[in-house]
Amino acid sequence: MFSLFSNPIDLAHQYWERVVRPGDLVIDATCGNGKDTLKLAQLTGEEGSVIGIDLQQEALVKTRTLLEESLSPSHLARIHLIQQSHAAFPPKVEKNTVKLIVYNLGYLPGGNKNVTTQAGTTLESVTKYFTLLSPGGVISVTCYPGHEEGAREEKSLSQLFSTLSPAIWSVCHHRWVNRLSSPSLFILQKSNN
Ligand SMILES: C[S@@+](CC[C@H](N)C(=O)[O-])C[C@H]1O[C@@H](n2cnc3c(N)ncnc32)[C@H](O)[C@@H]1O
Repeated sequence: MFSLFSNPIDLAHQYWERVVRPGDLVIDATCGNGKDTLKLAQLTGEEGSVIGIDLQQEALVKTRTLLEESLSPSHLARIHLIQQSHAAFPPKVEKNTVKLIVYNLGYLPGGNKNVTTQAGTTLESVTKYFTLLSPGGVISVTCYPGHEEGAREEKSLSQLFSTLSPAIWSVCHHRWVNRLSSPSLFILQKSNN
């Protein structure tokens, strides 16, 4: 119905397409059903690497199933799925090496709504993962303020991001002003130098 973009995921994907190149290292910090992980794998190609993180085994099983249906075995070998909280660093990722880090907050679609991302751990993760980004690297965060914890997360992230130095960070918040409580998208880019 709308040819430009119809939701924050479409918009996020357009940013990812602009920044990610074959061979890049990227992180999906909330794998969920794996749709974003698959998109990232397609962008980084067989020369790149994707680290996919989720707290829940159920999410990682769904993600692996989707990837197996869509990618060759050699490509699949470039995707590393880790069951842990994104509040911790993923193992073996060096600082200043990651081109894109993606958060799609909230709960697993079709899963347990009580296992949702939380403002405290989301902020802890984003703050830690800042250090992993390469120069010119991007963080993409989709927020869901339509539920209580999602509204808290969006507010806390907005407060944190508004304190970042404009010499080092370009931060933009996209929201649909004519759709009450609809999801929103933060895009942050770290300076190239
Ligand atoms: C909205 S879903 C992600 C959707 C997904 N990107 C997709 O394309 O289907 C949010 C996911 O975050 C996960 N999650 C919640 N808290 C987390 C945490 N602290 N660390 C890592 N993952 C977490 C949930 O288990 C859930 O699968």
